[in-house]
Amino acid sequence: MKAAADGPLVLALETSCDETGACLYQQNHGALGQTLFSQIDLHRPHGGVVPEAASRNHLLKLPTVVAEVFEKAQRSLADVDLFAATAGPGLSGALLIGDAAAKAYAIAAGKPFLPVNHMEGHLFSPFFGKAHPPFPFVALVVSGGHTLLVEVRALGQYRLLATTRDDAAGEAFDKVAKMLALPYPGGPEIEKTARSGDPSRFKLPRSLLNDPDFSFSGLKTALRYLLPELKPDDLADACASFQEAVVDALATKTEKMLGKHHVECLAVSGGVACNQRLRTVLESRLKDWKLYFAAPEFCTDNAAMIAHAASLRFETNATDDGVGAEVDPHFTLAFSQRPY
Ligand code: KG4
Ligand code: ZN
Repeated sequence: MKAAADGPLVLALETSCDETGACLYQQNHGALGQTLFSQIDLHRPHGGVVPEAASRNHLLKLPTVVAEVFEKAQRSLADVDLFAATAGPGLSGALLIGDAAAKAYAIAAGKPFLPVNHMEGHLFSPFFGKAHPPFPFVALVVSGGHTLLVEVRALGQYRLLATTRDDAAGEAFDKVAKMLALPYPGGPEIEKTARSGDPSRFKLPRSLLNDPDFSFSGLKTALRYLLPELKPDDLADACASFQEAVVDALATKTEKMLGKHHVECLAVSGGVACNQRLRTVLESRLKDWKLYFAAPEFCTDNAAMIAHAASLRFETNATDDGVGAEVDPHFTLAFSQRPY
């Protein structure tokens, strides 16, 4: 495949959950055009994402979203060098829409297609538009479905350092928000409500403190037991105390793990990385490491991070034509063995 001097022009699609995203991207120019249509209003009345409705709406919106990025970038299908789509993890019906569309564009244009792991997209999103630091570095990826501490030895060479034993951090935010009758998605609502609250008002547990892994279900249960005692005036304090417990657990375990590894940098990404309290606490506690946070617009799901990851993969020549590859709702990063 022939790539322009500026890197291949990539069209990437993201439809793993409830965001319909497309991005036209070129390494040396960044995003030439990107569009993200959020289905949140559609799912909010149900208190979470309804998979069937998500796929139908990706199908409805995708043609418009793709047309919009070509319009914004003033490019056409014939200009694209590489097509990419999220292949997983995610909702299978939702994944299939972006995957099938990107493959169809690739076949029509006679260009290759690259399936992208959504978590690899998140993991490298702090380096969108800039070079990543030298390997190895550690990545904290905190999303609605995952809580991962990963040693990144090279693109595609990952060592899992810690994961969650139960709920992901974002999932805990969403479930606790539901208990507190706050709208979906819970993370931003809890953060907003917590701003006027006292984080030390309720003593909530930090689980598995002597274990590298995370656990948030005990915290969630502790909050459930607190519910009958809560008065409407206590809502902000409950949100602040819960947020503090999650942030404290993430920061404490990340700090301990970094202390055991000879790395200089930590990359923080995923929807929960939008949380300003998490950013502040990590910055104040991890002064010995250089921290890279994904820009807030690239923390939650988007196609720009998928295009960026596809472009990085292209550089390493890992561009076998992936048209025959199937989506995988449980697509994991290829982890080497854990060090303990
Ligand atoms: O990365 P993402 O968009 O989707 C997945 O790949 O899962 O993450 C979505 C998650 C949701 O659980 C949402 O509640 C959480 O990120 N989130 C936040 C904030 N913004 C989004 N959690 C805490 N504070 C926030 N400001
Ligand atoms: Zn995500």
